Amino acid sequence: MTGTKIFGHRGAKGSYPENTLIGFQKAIDEGVDGLEIDVHMTADGEIVVIHDERLDRTTDGDGYVKDLTLEEIKEYSAGSRFPHFRNYEATWDIEKVPSLQEVLELLTPYDIELNIELKTNRLLYTGIEENVLALVHQYGGDRKVIYSSFHLPTLLRLKALDESVDIALLSREISHPYDYIQTLGLEGLHLDVNTVLSNVHQLKGIFGDLRVWTANESNEIKQLLDLNVNAIITDFPEKAAFYKSERQA
Ligand code: G3P
Ligand code: MG
Repeated sequence: MTGTKIFGHRGAKGSYPENTLIGFQKAIDEGVDGLEIDVHMTADGEIVVIHDERLDRTTDGDGYVKDLTLEEIKEYSAGSRFPHFRNYEATWDIEKVPSLQEVLELLTPYDIELNIELKTNRLLYTGIEENVLALVHQYGGDRKVIYSSFHLPTLLRLKALDESVDIALLSREISHPYDYIQTLGLEGLHLDVNTVLSNVHQLKGIFGDLRVWTANESNEIKQLLDLNVNAIITDFPEKAAFYKSERQA
């Protein structure tokens, strides 16, 4: 039996508008063990759940998140750019960019893990670590939260603020994960699927701390289940949950 958890990447990015409340709800309905979300900070210090530094790709607005207030960002649709999805419903158009608080509140009834990726590798958001932790302390209950980032200083700042946090470095190129985990004091690593599947011989024995993104192809998901990695982060959680359930039957 596999202990691998299935995490929905930006919700269920392959089927629903990414990083939206409808996408998170659908991923939960599809049986995820956890969700991966991306966060940035607004001009008024609010934490919003969106992948890019700018609004343009995923909303009908434009400009940088850092230059807009939460109220301004809420004027735009986060669903209307995704009418091509098979499951498209007109109600997606009223989806807004969620705040982290809204996501934490949505998750309250569900026993799932949350991976918050702090998107600090391109822009520096001074104070984002404090603001994220404050929201999780206030609205997160006793949920397991994993903080990840491509930007190591962000993770170390989180750890300095609260030594109990679970931090994981994101990377596309680490082939000696155990060395990184030990040396940097990380709880885990989040590696891309190609790095993992091309370095399997380096990874034996440390899978408890390893989550792998973004595994969407059936053969990738099956290989990662065989490897018993800690979690598979996927755009298609329903498919991954199906392959996992096959192993448990
Ligand atoms: O956290 C895994 C993955 O989300 C990292 O890349 O660009 O999809 O946020 P990206
Ligand atoms: Mg991400």
